[in-house]
Amino acid sequence: MVLRQMDSLPIDEGTRVLVRVDFNVPLDDEQTVSDDTRIRESLPTINRLRERGALVILMSHLGRPKGRPDPKLSLRPAARRLSELLGTAVVFVPASVGRAAEEAVARAGPGDVLVLENLRFDPREEQNDGNFARELAGLADVYVNDAFGSAHRAHASTTAVAQLLPAAAGELMLRELWALDDILGRPEHPYWVVVGGAKVSDKIGLLKTLLPRADGMVVGGGMANTFLAAAGKSLGASRVETGAVSAAAALLEDARRLGCPIVLPTDVVVTTEFAAGAASRVTGVDTIAGAEMALDIGPESVRAIEAALRDARTVFWNGPMGVFEWERFRAGTDAVARILADLDARVVVGGGDSVAAVNQTGLQDRLTHISTGGGAALEFLEGRRLPGVEALRVADE
Ligand code: 3PG
Repeated sequence: MVLRQMDSLPIDEGTRVLVRVDFNVPLDDEQTVSDDTRIRESLPTINRLRERGALVILMSHLGRPKGRPDPKLSLRPAARRLSELLGTAVVFVPASVGRAAEEAVARAGPGDVLVLENLRFDPREEQNDGNFARELAGLADVYVNDAFGSAHRAHASTTAVAQLLPAAAGELMLRELWALDDILGRPEHPYWVVVGGAKVSDKIGLLKTLLPRADGMVVGGGMANTFLAAAGKSLGASRVETGAVSAAAALLEDARRLGCPIVLPTDVVVTTEFAAGAASRVTGVDTIAGAEMALDIGPESVRAIEAALRDARTVFWNGPMGVFEWERFRAGTDAVARILADLDARVVVGGGDSVAAVNQTGLQDRLTHISTGGGAALEFLEGRRLPGVEALRVADE
């Protein structure tokens, strides 16, 4: 079974192409897109289709609106940003199906770009509902899925609709799968995995899968607290996921048995108040006071990470090392981004927060691949099948 590619679809002047993109982008208080990475990454597919004369109908979700309209989660700002990036008008359609959508498509012509309203304003999207999929499919002649970030969701726009129209993978979808498949199947060794972020429970599956394949792991960020607790440390007021301590302990034990080093922080930046401007100090992980919480890794930990990764040939990074959104607690994450950018290695970054963290450092061009997928990238690397990808497979001709 192979993935059908866009070039094999019957597309000529005026063909209506329904494209699932992942425009689930962050919006600021002014309803402006604050990180347009996902929109930018969809441009090659949109441009390629326009070059072929297609009428491009884009559809996406944004946030989790619980099946009903929520003005704060409209895709209008994303359509506006897309128009700026394309340098051409983009028609925003304030509905995803029904008369308004049908009429907007009927008015459009070759090369035009439309953005439908948030699919999740209709509960049938997340239910993978056949009728909703038929209404979406009725707007177009062919279907392209370029939403790698949503490929782990079996929703109407990612799976059901793919059965109703000639369907293919978009360029971003293929780029993502190639890059991640490379590190899943054929990583050049030494292969290191660097994980951070808040929750161990989100990533324990990934760590277990990667443990026998990796030559070493670095664990930082909030989740390191749970590993440190499993190693018997007292973390003061730091957030420890008590329900995951035994899983972390089991992973440390497996790692020891397999001879896979796990680098945990030896020093951290602590504070007594969870606030951007809170006073902080650096301390060893054995000397955290009862009222203190760790919000970043310290300089000694950074040096240990640098030494561990020195000879790495492949690195997968997911999750920040601390509360990188706050200046005072971002030095560890910035340092890891710099270490990875300086390596002579294939470095793949996955996960929403890590992407935002890398973009903040401006080092994104010095890394091999930055995935637009969060959950999708993690599930793929865990070896799980992604419904949105499976729906695009066709028999090998
Ligand atoms: C993501 O941001 O990971 C994707 O857009 C999927 O969003 P979801 O977790 O709300 O399904």
